[in-house]
Amino acid sequence: CGIVGVLGQGPVAGAIVDALKRLEYRGYDSAGVATLHNGRLERRRAEGKLRNLEARLAAEPLGGAIGIGHTRWATHGKPTEANAHPHAARGLAVVHNGIIENFKALREELAAKGYAFVTETDSEIAALVVEDELAAGKTPAEAVFAALGRLRGAFALVYLFEGYEDLLIGARQGAPLAIGYGDGEMYLGSDALALAPFTDRVAYLEDGDWVVVTRAGAEVFDSGGVSVQRRIQRSPVGSLLAEKGNYRHFMAKEIHEQPEVVGHTLAHYIDMASMRLKPFDWPVDPATLRRLTIIACGTAYMAGLVGKYWIERFARLPVEVDVASEYRYREAPVDPDGLTLVISQSGETADTLASLKYVKERGSKTVGVVNVPDSSIARLTDAAAPTLAGPEIGVASTKAFTCQLAALAALAIALGRARGTVGDEEEGALLAELVATPGLIAEALKLERATEKLAQGIAHARDVLYLGRGTGYPLALEGALKLKELTYIHAEGYAAGELKHGPIALIDPDMPVVVLAPRDAVFEKTVSNMQEVAARGGRIILIGARHAAEEAAVEIERFLAMPDVGANFAPIVYAVPVQLLAYHTAVLMGKDADQPRNLAKSVTVE
Ligand code: G6P
Repeated sequence: CGIVGVLGQGPVAGAIVDALKRLEYRGYDSAGVATLHNGRLERRRAEGKLRNLEARLAAEPLGGAIGIGHTRWATHGKPTEANAHPHAARGLAVVHNGIIENFKALREELAAKGYAFVTETDSEIAALVVEDELAAGKTPAEAVFAALGRLRGAFALVYLFEGYEDLLIGARQGAPLAIGYGDGEMYLGSDALALAPFTDRVAYLEDGDWVVVTRAGAEVFDSGGVSVQRRIQRSPVGSLLAEKGNYRHFMAKEIHEQPEVVGHTLAHYIDMASMRLKPFDWPVDPATLRRLTIIACGTAYMAGLVGKYWIERFARLPVEVDVASEYRYREAPVDPDGLTLVISQSGETADTLASLKYVKERGSKTVGVVNVPDSSIARLTDAAAPTLAGPEIGVASTKAFTCQLAALAALAIALGRARGTVGDEEEGALLAELVATPGLIAEALKLERATEKLAQGIAHARDVLYLGRGTGYPLALEGALKLKELTYIHAEGYAAGELKHGPIALIDPDMPVVVLAPRDAVFEKTVSNMQEVAARGGRIILIGARHAAEEAAVEIERFLAMPDVGANFAPIVYAVPVQLLAYHTAVLMGKDADQPRNLAKSVTVE
């Protein structure tokens, strides 16, 4: 979704719609504007594209020199006018982007207090929680600050208050929000692109920040309520789409976009209000399948390996995964009634495309997990399973990977439903666990400084070993790949249980061993393997569940205690420190994180 707020000198509704047009790429299934006109809150909303809202505004104009607007990409609740933003409560309106995870619990809590709900959205709760705080006698700023402590998930918000002609309050928690500085006017927006018609002077909120904006300026507070400075920068309008914002590299920016884009991807597959999967149009009946083939290259291949664990676990369907460059030439037998899944960020990778053509010619139906909608692979596959990561500029794939994982997790559950191996209750439980991942990614991103410290333990190494079990194993492979790509340090990923069959000979006091140990079904086994490394004097860098280090009771050189994650979808969250570790090691070593030597973003040659 896209959000905009304007504190202007004259009527603002038209300007808000113009800004929303630049955000339409973020969603366009409904839109709306709210302003204060003669002190009163007024709204106009419309289903469908922005032009419908424009028509509505032409018929029923909206005055007022302060307002907020929204263009929606539905997550909770259908794209109807009633569900369109801004949402209103007594004395305020709000626009929201992202997912509020605990909306059901809050809804019950507020319903018990007598609050009534008029929409199916999670966004309405963001309005009512602030109303609840205002009712307790707080000022708008105090109320928003208190409300933020009650909302969980990954989101951005902008509030407008009745009776306050010179006040907007914004908040960023996992989804982006920028402040625009004009002359006697001030703005808020999802990105600098939205603010481009107004100003090129922009400051980006950091995660957890919230901001009180008046026509005289903006005061930013951090999540603890402490006033902080965020640098105002000039954003060159021409290159806005490819802008780094506050980040040194696109890679860092893309790593930090993950709570938002993973949420966006999940919302494509899951109806958040009912916690049910949306229907997926399988090109063959999954119940008839005997096997599934997954083909991809590079990081997309690693995502496929994780997908195998999920599909076999939830759908009881055997999966083979192969790199496209091998698959296309190994004369693999293709089941003419079967299904092949190809995974590609760019949708243009030559080997993947060739493998896709190979299986199609032999009768297999195909599903494409692709990030670029009009790409060759997206056009050639029978069914599209999109990842909504947005443009990925950094050559080393990050947000595309976690979005691939999100899509594969949803598809695995959908296959389980279609094959009768996942029941109603299990579907609800798995989806609830999956929907928690964007918020947990935001939590993991807060560990960036600690991850930088881990990088210091890697930057001088010649070789690094990554170990994991279960879905942690393919993530170990991805970790090693990221490190190789970015730092040119030799790294290998290994199944922790396989270590004793050879690579354990490599363990010495010089080689860091990165162990990935979420609290999943194989946690104890992973810890035992770590103990084997410790017994041989290995240097252990542990990225694991809280208390994992104490439980292991061996010498650990560095430990990153991760937030508690569910047992099934840990790799979606653990991908974050794995990416940050490679990134910060590269930065420490002075390497170009965005454009590592010898690599290309999209490899359209064999
Ligand atoms: C290149 C990129 C990798 C990517 C791989 C597959 O090697 O550098 O980051 O994983 O291609 O690309 P695709 O676009 O098919 O996902």
